[in-house]
Amino acid sequence: MTDLHATSAHATPKSSTVAGEIVVSGVSKSYGAGLFTKEVVQDCSFAIERNKLTVMIGPSGCGKSTLIRLLAGFEKPTSGSIKLNGKPITGPGRDRLVVFQESALFPWMTTYDNIMYGPRARGEDTPAARAQAEFLLEKVGLKAFRNKFPPQLSGGMQRRAELARAMINDPEVMILDEPFRGLDAMSKELMWEYYAGLFEESHRTNFFVTTDIDEAIFLADRLLIMTNVPTRVRATIEVDLPRPRKLSTIFESERANEIKMQALSLLHEEAMKSFAGGSKAAADFVNAYAKRSNKADEVH
Ligand SMILES: Nc1ncnc2c1ncn2[C@@H]1O[C@H](COP(=O)(O)OP(=O)(O)OP(=O)(O)O)[C@@H](O)[C@H]1O
Ligand SMILES: [Mg+2]
Repeated sequence: MTDLHATSAHATPKSSTVAGEIVVSGVSKSYGAGLFTKEVVQDCSFAIERNKLTVMIGPSGCGKSTLIRLLAGFEKPTSGSIKLNGKPITGPGRDRLVVFQESALFPWMTTYDNIMYGPRARGEDTPAARAQAEFLLEKVGLKAFRNKFPPQLSGGMQRRAELARAMINDPEVMILDEPFRGLDAMSKELMWEYYAGLFEESHRTNFFVTTDIDEAIFLADRLLIMTNVPTRVRATIEVDLPRPRKLSTIFESERANEIKMQALSLLHEEAMKSFAGGSKAAADFVNAYAKRSNKADEVH
C-alpha cells in the first residue's frame, strides 16, 4: 500500500512562496437586472489570514461558489472590495489557485502531464519543474500512477492529482471549493488527514469551502459560518484544536464536539430559513441534522 506521507530522499522539495492574505470588505454580488435581480452575496466581510486554513461552511446554494469566483477574479463584485496583500483583485492570477468542486483534470493527459500542465502553459517545462512534478507525484502517493489517465484513477487519487496540479504552481493562496464532494465516506476521511498533513507542512494560506461539518472542523483554524442566500458571515469560530490533526483523536475531543454543536445550531437556523423558501437542499440538510442530533423535527 502506498504511504501517502512518504517523501523520497531523491526528491527535491521546493520552498513555497510568501503566503498571501485576502481581505473581503463589504462585498455584494447580484445577477440579472430590474425585477429579475437576484442578490447572492450581501455586504459580506471577512479575512483569509496568512498561514491559516480558513474554512467556509454554509447551506447548499447560499453563495459559496459565487464568492470563490469573486476571489479567483473570474467575476467582479457589484460593490465592495477584495484585496490580496493590500492590492485589489482585478482578474485571475497565478497568486491564487482554485481547485473546483468538479474534477478539472484533463482526461486525455496522464497524471504526470496533468501535473505539468501549469508550468508547460507558462513555457516552463524546465528540469526544476520536472523535478518538482516528481516530488509532488511522490508526495500525493501517485508515483506508480504517473502514466495513467484520470479515468484509470480512483476518485481519491484524482483529487490528490488535482492537489499536486495546483501545488506545482506554488500559489500564495490555495482556494478549494468542496474538493472532496462526491467521495465515499472512507476516502473522504483519508483525504482530510492527508490534506491537513500537507497544510501542516507548509502553512500556506488556504481557503476551503464545504457543506460538511465534520470536514470543516477537522481541517479549520478558523471557521466562517455563512447565512442562507444572500450570503454573508453569520459567525466566526476559532477552531483551537491541536495540530497535527488525527482522525483517531479529533472527534473524541470535547472541544471539537462543542464547536460542532455550536456550528450545527447556527447552520440549522440558516437552513430552516431557506426551507421556508422551499429549497429541497435545505430540507435535506435539516433532515440530516435531525438524524445526527437525534432530533424529532424531521421535515418532509
Ligand atoms: N451567473 C448566475 N446567474 C444567476 N444566478 C446565479 C449565477 N450564479 C449563481 N447564481 C445563484 O446564486 C446562488 C448561489 O449559488 P452558488 O453556486 O454560489 O451556491 P453554493 O453555496 O456554492 O452552493 P453548493 O453548496 O450547492 O455548491 C444560487 O441560487 C444560484 O442559482
Ligand atoms: Mg458551490
